[in-house]
Amino acid sequence: MCGIVGLINGHAVAADLITALGRLEYRGYDSAGIAVAGPGFAVHKVAGRAAGLIPGINQTFGGQAGIAHTRWATHGRAEAHNAHPHVVDGVAVVHNGIIENHAELRAELIARGHRFASETDSEVIPHLIADACAAGAEPAEAVRQACTVLHGAYAIAVLFETAPDRLIVARQGSPVMVARGDGAAAVASDPAALAGFCTEYAALADGDIAELGRDGIAIMDFSGRPVVRKWEDVNEGETGTELRGFTTYTRAEIAAQPEALRRTDAALLPLLLPDAVAAAERIVVVACGSSLFAAATARQWIEQLAGVPCDLEIASEYRTREAPISRGTVAVLVSQSGETADTLAVQTLFREKRVPVVAVVNVAQSQMARDADLVWPTKAGRELGVAATKSFTCQMLALVRFGLALGLARGTVTSCRLAKIEREIAGLPEICHQAEALEPQLAAIARMIAMENEALFLGRGPGAALAAEGALKLKELSYIRAEAYAAGELKHGPIALIREGSPVLACVGEHAEKTLANAEEVRARGACVVALVGAAEAARFERIAEHCVVLPGSGLGLVFAQAVAVQLIAVHAAEVLGRDVDRPRNLAKSVTVE
Ligand code: M6R
Repeated sequence: MCGIVGLINGHAVAADLITALGRLEYRGYDSAGIAVAGPGFAVHKVAGRAAGLIPGINQTFGGQAGIAHTRWATHGRAEAHNAHPHVVDGVAVVHNGIIENHAELRAELIARGHRFASETDSEVIPHLIADACAAGAEPAEAVRQACTVLHGAYAIAVLFETAPDRLIVARQGSPVMVARGDGAAAVASDPAALAGFCTEYAALADGDIAELGRDGIAIMDFSGRPVVRKWEDVNEGETGTELRGFTTYTRAEIAAQPEALRRTDAALLPLLLPDAVAAAERIVVVACGSSLFAAATARQWIEQLAGVPCDLEIASEYRTREAPISRGTVAVLVSQSGETADTLAVQTLFREKRVPVVAVVNVAQSQMARDADLVWPTKAGRELGVAATKSFTCQMLALVRFGLALGLARGTVTSCRLAKIEREIAGLPEICHQAEALEPQLAAIARMIAMENEALFLGRGPGAALAAEGALKLKELSYIRAEAYAAGELKHGPIALIREGSPVLACVGEHAEKTLANAEEVRARGACVVALVGAAEAARFERIAEHCVVLPGSGLGLVFAQAVAVQLIAVHAAEVLGRDVDRPRNLAKSVTVE
């Protein structure tokens, strides 16, 4: 996690660096810092957001080259002294990643007389580079020497007092781009940070070192050999959902789901599956967080449409499990960002085993997209709220379309089934729109949950996955403890949680009669039952539920309506409790550490 940016552009860079840093805050936002070359360095760090740097920028920040950082704390609390850049003897460093051998390196450096100013793993880097400089190495060589002893993941940008018109960048395991434009050179964790400052970017590969100046960018590998990387346009167009009168991006992104679904469907419709994917004998879907729950909703759709077994795997577990991979396996990775560290590690593992990889990914320029055999895109657009909302529903749609394409290629979808599912897909945008109109009722439920300060979500089939997503959304936005269970699991233990007034939210879909029985069981123990239900089952649930939300749609459509409903409940619970909906505590949108 963390966002890094660096800029050299022939005029004072401080303001542009802070603007670019603000665009990287989705990567972490607990502290921020900036260093600008001048004579000497001007350095400023704050706990909190990048905008907090602005009051501290004075005339000493007039330099034309600088680096900046927005942090998601891994080692050391979110305080100004742990914020980057870390500066040692004329070397300033910003780092994204984790240095795994930092404790050993720190002990060696202290034994050699170095003194540390922070508790971070990152601070060893400028110490090592400063030592190499003191021994006579030039900037790029000093960075290379330091990299040879670092274990772990890093993208670093380094500014030297002795070379104030240069930036050195190195990458191992964490994403970083170098960029150029009219008289400017830059580095950033994400090219979107550089819109307006540069026109072209190149993603560095692991083991690359780049030297940036206004006169050009040289990229080499760790042995010093020049390497060529692909240059692409910095996309000025993709900005994200406007606020459109809402007070938070998250809420605006919930409202943007109908058009996001239409865009995604239009992009997927013409795509065909290559033979190696269509011939799959087993699908393994790997993801984290909400992307995993989107995959969980879709698992049975894929199995039913294509007649292929579909396994679901948590990326952080799968990457270390050494699971046997059967012949004919096709991997499907699901990720909004396309840069989640655990999912990328699984992608590497599949590549090594020559398993075809399909990436269901929202960020088209991401590493996951670049390295996939087939990109099966979602077109949610940029999601500025940390919580997945429009990306989640677009992932569900993409996975239905994937199951359908697989089924069509294998001849397992009847024309009647095809016509029905196409009708359902066509109706999804309108269903999301109609579900949003139930906001006042959902807000009342959110107030009740906020008062009770707990929630239990239940469901069956895709509804169980939706329950998991509902609980995750509520936790991350409102900080209320929420649990989710497949409804049939309730009596195997979790029912002990139920007390008088416990909110239990049932995502009612398939096997509604069984979920009804489970709802009766919790009601008999005093729970306050909330049913998120389609019109067909509404009457049965109205009898027992304290709150019965009658959602539009049935089958596939109902699952999408329930997604909107749980999103709105979470947003309203968060608002009632005064939480920061777009930037919840402790989170970052891109999880680039393990
Ligand atoms: O970018 P990815 O989809 O790979 O990210 C996966 C999770 O980190 C992400 O879905 C996370 O759970 C969100 N905070 C959910 O709202």
